[in-house]
Amino acid sequence: MSFDCLLTGGILPDGSTADIAITGETITAIGPKLDGTARDTIDISGNLVSAPFVDPHFHMDATLSYGIPRINKSGTLLEGIGLWGELKPQLTHEAVKQRALEYCDWAVTQGLLAIRTHVDVCDDRLLAVEALLEVQKEVADYIDLQLVAFPQDGLYRSPNALQNTLRALDLGVDVVGGIPHFERTMADGRRSVTELCEIAAKRGLPVDMHCDETDDPQSRHIEQLIFETQRLGLQGRVAGSHLTSMHSMDNYYVSKLLPLMAEADVSAIPNPLINITIQGRHDTYPKRRGMTRVPEMLAHGIRVGWGQDCVLDPWYPLGNADMLDVAFMGLHVAQMTSPADMTSCYDMVTNQNAAIMGLPDYGLSPGKKASLVVLDAGNPIEAIRLRPERLLVMAKGKVIALRERQDTEVTLPGRPSRVNRRHRAG
Ligand code: FE2
Repeated sequence: MSFDCLLTGGILPDGSTADIAITGETITAIGPKLDGTARDTIDISGNLVSAPFVDPHFHMDATLSYGIPRINKSGTLLEGIGLWGELKPQLTHEAVKQRALEYCDWAVTQGLLAIRTHVDVCDDRLLAVEALLEVQKEVADYIDLQLVAFPQDGLYRSPNALQNTLRALDLGVDVVGGIPHFERTMADGRRSVTELCEIAAKRGLPVDMHCDETDDPQSRHIEQLIFETQRLGLQGRVAGSHLTSMHSMDNYYVSKLLPLMAEADVSAIPNPLINITIQGRHDTYPKRRGMTRVPEMLAHGIRVGWGQDCVLDPWYPLGNADMLDVAFMGLHVAQMTSPADMTSCYDMVTNQNAAIMGLPDYGLSPGKKASLVVLDAGNPIEAIRLRPERLLVMAKGKVIALRERQDTEVTLPGRPSRVNRRHRAG
């Protein structure tokens, strides 16, 4: 057999060692010691190779705007929304696009090759929608960018939000979003979930709503989202993002809710970096951390993915496009420290997030798209522990980022041995 490219000796996430053969944009074979010749052979032996990272929840219209026009002093969601409202009239098509493209470059270097971004539709100009639709086309060769029509200021609370949501979907936005906990009343929130799910059902689109992003244990819009998913036959196409109120809900109520969520095949997207910095801001002590009930959801068979949400914007002053940072924080907050749980956190920022986004041809197996990342780590747990350099990133058969391997061994003056933070048992 002859291939375009052969990656040799990589360690797959399941711990096995394999060669990966690529022809054109496709993985054609995977196995130990493949026979055949290749135009390019790249030795990746001893390094973890996996399908690329996927972020199912982001705000690309706001990213890299930190400090414009000022920073969020209280650190709350509501001040962040207010601050974004101050920034919105100053946005230009060019600035939104330039920041988004810069973020996409960051993403590439981190092996992050699929992103679902919410885009605010409350500005009648739909400037951010148009800018991100252009970015979506420009990065299509290396990033799967999905857009969610997001009425940030409330579907009913903001005068033209419903109209603008429909306009954005007409322009080609892929997913229907919402923010029921920000409507004026619980009843309006509930009504918004129904109306948005009906729009999605009518247009054959997925739904991904900011849902119950609050510490209020009475915020139960997830219940309505589950109900509408069942009623409208949207099973497998709906995600509830954040779901932070579930952190504070009554345990008995949650014991009824989670089986209903599993039955309707509604996915959950917690965003640990943001949830634990934004929630609990009105508490003294004990101070709630606000992240939703991830291990309990997984135990019920609910699909859960970790999202990034924000990088350098009105809500979050840090971030680096690294889904391993997200998995690292999620693992700590959810206390998912067993080997199986830690491995599952890696799976969440790759395969589970891809399933939530409905990505076709994703994964490391023959016939799938040849998109992958090689990390300076020996296994998924070590990748989360070290959040190491991405040595090679490939999109659809093309190497799009390549980094010389740094010497991970450091000599400490006066000591007899060198230090290497990678741990090789045995
Ligand atoms: Fe968000």
